[in-house]
Amino acid sequence: MPKEVFGRDYVFLPRHQILSFEEMTRLVRVFVSLGVEKVRLTGGEPLLRKNLPDLIRALSEINGLQDLTLTTNGAALSALAGPLRAAGLKRLTVSLDALDDEIFRGMNDVDFPVARVLAGIDAAVEAGFAPVKINMVVKRGVNDHQILPMVRRFQSPHYVLRFIEYMDVGNTNGWRMDEVISAAEIVSIIEQEFTLEPVAANYPGEVAKRFRHRDGGGEIGLISSVTQPFCTGCTRARISSDGQLYTCLFASTGHDLRSLLRDDSDDQKITEVIRHQWLNRTDRYSELRTTATSTMPKAEMSHIGG
Ligand SMILES: C[S@@+](CC[C@H](N)C(=O)[O-])C[C@H]1O[C@@H](n2cnc3c(N)ncnc32)[C@H](O)[C@@H]1O
Repeated sequence: MPKEVFGRDYVFLPRHQILSFEEMTRLVRVFVSLGVEKVRLTGGEPLLRKNLPDLIRALSEINGLQDLTLTTNGAALSALAGPLRAAGLKRLTVSLDALDDEIFRGMNDVDFPVARVLAGIDAAVEAGFAPVKINMVVKRGVNDHQILPMVRRFQSPHYVLRFIEYMDVGNTNGWRMDEVISAAEIVSIIEQEFTLEPVAANYPGEVAKRFRHRDGGGEIGLISSVTQPFCTGCTRARISSDGQLYTCLFASTGHDLRSLLRDDSDDQKITEVIRHQWLNRTDRYSELRTTATSTMPKAEMSHIGG
């Protein structure tokens, strides 16, 4: 959320336009009845939502939901890791693009030091979330020389360090193809110093290609959404905080579920609408991506969560 776009004068959604915990829990129950097994809370920044452990508790009690996880910038994690774990959160991903404080702040446009995120990651391991996933988006000329320091710092079974190819999300990130460092290039940089071996996918459709350190020092993941798109195997639906259903990270519009939650539609009706949207999706943006498509209107990453 670059400050020049989302600055002091930015008008955020009024409270009544965002889904309540009860509405989110109902929606998740409907999705689980359709076969969804895994839910990830993201954002925006999910730890900014008041009383978040209450939502986690309600979601963790849904029968059939097998995995409940969350992606955070880590700024508020030191205080919240324990309460989130106690409420039933199963796994945690922390975004961290650099260990160098200046590069970290520059990339994320934030006013907190990298030390605060590292303390949050320590708190997550202590709370029982190991292995904690660490997401690093790699941008050429900006943080590529942080790849090896990150591998050294997180070479441990306590972490899974994941490198994400820089994507043309939203309309505000000014993406250029020459800023993308491919997963293959990232692996070759890591292999200058470390010996990696491939690991089989956890499940069909897993987005990260997995490697492990041959000496037992934990795992590395590569998310090559630009150079090796995985639209065909994508099983992700996204719901924005105001209840829009998006069938692709690069969609420009969503389908309104909030009004169904707030009129007298029963769960059956909501189920049918979701099924229809899902079965009729045609999204394959990442397979069609060119420099020209990068300027097409898309929902902002901060709106649909990454
Ligand atoms: C949009 S954030 C939302 C959750 C939370 N605020 C956070 O910082 O983790 C979710 C993930 O998207 C990743 N991300 C953001 N911009 C990206 C880009 N242009 N290309 C690839 N991944 C990106 C972030 O690194 C983060 O791991």
